[in-house]
Parts: sequence; C-alpha cells; structure tokens
Amino acid sequence: ASILVIQGPNLNLLGTREPEVYGKTTLADIHAKLGEIAKAHSVDLDTYQSNHEGQLIDRVQKAKQDGVDFIIINPGAFTHTSVALRDALAGVAIPFTEIHLSNIHQREEFRKHSYLSDIATGVICGLGAIGYELALQAAIARLQK
Ligand code: DQA
Repeated sequence: ASILVIQGPNLNLLGTREPEVYGKTTLADIHAKLGEIAKAHSVDLDTYQSNHEGQLIDRVQKAKQDGVDFIIINPGAFTHTSVALRDALAGVAIPFTEIHLSNIHQREEFRKHSYLSDIATGVICGLGAIGYELALQAAIARLQK
C-alpha cells in the first residue's frame, strides 16, 4: 500500500512559526515519525510540501498516476480558499484525510470553512503533531482491512 502526505503553504516553517498555535515540532520531525510508523507496517510513505497551489495540484494529479492509495493532506490556508485543490482531490478520487494542527473552529471566522471537509474521508484538527500519527494509523488500518 502507498500513502502520500501533502503539506501546504508555510508548513515548512513548523517549529518556528507561531509555536503557540502550531507547536514546536518541525516538519522534518513529523515526517520522520510518520516514516517509522509506515516502515513498521510495511507501507510505502511519501511526503511533499509546497507553498504553491499549482504544485500541490500537480502533486495530487501525480498521485493518481503513481497509484497512491490514500492521501493525508494539511492544505494550510488553501483549506479556506482553494476550489482548485478540492477539484484536484475530487478528480483523482483518492480517499483522503484532511488534517490541521490547530483547531480551526476555535480561531478566526475565515478558518471555519473548508473547501475539502465534505469530500474527505475524515478530518482531524486541533491535536497538534500527533494528529498526523493518528491520521496515518487510521489510513493504514483502512488499507489493511
Ligand atoms: C492549518 C490551519 C490553517 O488555517 C492555516 O492557514 C495553516 C495551518 C493548521 O494546520 O492548523 O496554515 O492548516
């Protein structure tokens, strides 16, 4: 089985970016932990981060060609703006979990709406970096059943 983790804009800054909101764990730390979990379950894991909407869309499209079975995506601010990213995920029809480090429902009004949630298999938010581990465990359980 093959799982892809996609990280949107500004998530490359994790660890130093508003640590009171997003925590002190870096993206490299998160990806290392996910790599360990995937390895323990003999699952192929790829990770990708981009600050650019079009590159994120290209990566979603490539996932289809690559035969990716499941996507875990933190779309960053594109969550709240991108019909194009939604269309890409709907277009490839790969099941996905939407994840946010922060609880987007507890913050500014403009973060409460997501263009992805209603087409996602699941949504995790507000649990910090551990949310990624839970999302991966759920994806693995789903693929192995
Ligand atoms: C985020 C929440 C978004 O509203 C924000 O724009 C981000 C990160 C999160 O992980 O909590 O960049 O997706």
